[in-house]
Amino acid sequence: MAFPNSYPSLNPVDIYREHIATNLAPIFGVEPSAVFSKLQWTQTQDKGDLLLPVPALQIKGKKPQQLAAEAGEKFPESDLVGKPVVAGTFLQFFFKPEPLTKTVLDSILKNKKVYGTNSNLGLRDPSDPSKGRKKIIVEFSSPNIAKPFHAGHLRSTIIGGFIAKLYAAIGWDVWKMNYLGDWGKQYGLLANGYKKYGSEEELTRDPINHLFDVYVKINKDSAVQDAPIKELKEKIKLNKEKGESVTELEKELAGLIEESEDEKARKYFKSMEDGDREALALWEKFRALSISKYEQTYARLNIEFDEYAGESKVAPEAIVAVSKELAETGVSEESEGAVIVDFEKHGAKKLGKAIFQRKDGTPLYLTRDIAEIRARYDKYHFDKMIYVVAAQQDLHLAQFFKVTELSGHSEIAEKCQHVNFGMVRGMSTRKGTVKFLDDILRDVADKMHDVMRKNETKYEQIEHPEQVADTLGITAVMVQDMSGKRINGYDFNLEAMTSFEGDTGPYLQYAHARLSSIARKSEVDLAKLLSAKYSLLKEQHAIDLVRLLAQWPDVVQNTVKTLEPATVLTYLFKMTHALSSSYDILKVIGSEPELKEARMALYEAARQVLHNGMSLLGLNPVERM
Ligand code: ARG
Repeated sequence: MAFPNSYPSLNPVDIYREHIATNLAPIFGVEPSAVFSKLQWTQTQDKGDLLLPVPALQIKGKKPQQLAAEAGEKFPESDLVGKPVVAGTFLQFFFKPEPLTKTVLDSILKNKKVYGTNSNLGLRDPSDPSKGRKKIIVEFSSPNIAKPFHAGHLRSTIIGGFIAKLYAAIGWDVWKMNYLGDWGKQYGLLANGYKKYGSEEELTRDPINHLFDVYVKINKDSAVQDAPIKELKEKIKLNKEKGESVTELEKELAGLIEESEDEKARKYFKSMEDGDREALALWEKFRALSISKYEQTYARLNIEFDEYAGESKVAPEAIVAVSKELAETGVSEESEGAVIVDFEKHGAKKLGKAIFQRKDGTPLYLTRDIAEIRARYDKYHFDKMIYVVAAQQDLHLAQFFKVTELSGHSEIAEKCQHVNFGMVRGMSTRKGTVKFLDDILRDVADKMHDVMRKNETKYEQIEHPEQVADTLGITAVMVQDMSGKRINGYDFNLEAMTSFEGDTGPYLQYAHARLSSIARKSEVDLAKLLSAKYSLLKEQHAIDLVRLLAQWPDVVQNTVKTLEPATVLTYLFKMTHALSSSYDILKVIGSEPELKEARMALYEAARQVLHNGMSLLGLNPVERM
């Protein structure tokens, strides 16, 4: 195959890449595949449809500018492309409208939901599908049971859901994993709190809220006890400095500590670690009830996990095995009774030092991740694993990737990637605390409902306004989250995200609803669009729209490189803006039947691409609003 990564039946632009590469290669005296891989897409349509930076070919002997000028002369005009425009060392290629329109609209209207995807890319061996698909684990969301669901979890959920869909679109075998924060001393605290404040009935009815309430109460109790303990410690320190006896005070302190919720939590957790059946049964119940609640909410975001893993599920034997290995390979060392990893000694000064095992022998968050990465590899043999976790944990992830590498498992570490993101500022509901995703989504849906009600006549035509408000609210939250680069934080802004003006979720939904409505009102038979007279689409607006639609498969490919949802959104907004300015010029209603049908083919193709883009982002496009 001359062009191994070319899929003309799925990506119309590949037809042009092949054509340009084949014709340009002999002019430069290079291999066609060399030209093929250097052709770039353009930022704006006035720069052409494909661009060749001549210096990228690294041809010796002549100046790139001269080479570009000569190639511009020699390149033959064809049915597909005109003569290239020479701009300095760049060659700009413009696709000829008529054949492009035919290819692009046919491809979209035939491929429908598949347009933009390419399942060949996930094959282990493209020439032998029987060798199966590449496997990826995407770990995301990963909230902590009973603790608030914070903005970091929101972003992880949205971005992770998107990445999972993206890899599925390019044919990978995707395993979605939620690694719950469901282990540690705080669950001892929660269990004790439940004994004190819990109610079986409320737990079953609303586990997430109930456990959260219990957690808040017991935390308060614990905090109240902290003050006198601190005071006493201070006093002991002062007395020691003065040389006075502290025996009585120390006895008093020991008593306070013994009675404290914190100590009771530690003991309870110890019993969980030691396998106490009763403690574990209670814990299992909290966990299971919480998960069934989570599932309902994730479903609203079109997310379904394949596995609820969690810190509690990391096997103690796996931790023992890994600690042995770290000790044997000299990665870890003892330090004041604890076990640590000193990264400086291993040539990674930036990663500092990390505790692997506490003085009392108990493992930590980091310990569990180190054991877990191994266990996942043994179980799934993934080709890639992505962790979608806030940038606040950059160090934590770098540390456990490095430990994996240092202990002789670089083959695993190499396959792992941390997809990080910045903070959301000011995420709270109008009522206050966020306990789980539901609280935010409900709040934004309410706000969206208010916004919808402002337009009374329109509002009255909507059949299930509450349902639409819910979908629009979810879209609003997600689009605001995905608009910028992942690493940038943003302000959670209810007013801005629910507005129909600007590049918002509601704007995108409106664009989709409008296209759906044109289709309904046109009364054109959508099944017959493939035989429409595309040649009637002569206006520049129509041509430019077709050129944009041609780019979608490339946009998806590029997104796989950036792993930025904004790559998709930027494209969708560009496309919907082009649509908005076309409606007055490319009218459907009132046009002659043939023209009407041709324009409807264009709009239906645009709707399909918008639909595909929104679905990739995890949004549910609405037909009416
Ligand atoms: N539960 C953690 C938190 O809320 C996030 C887990 C991230 N994943 C991991 N493998 N450490 O901070």
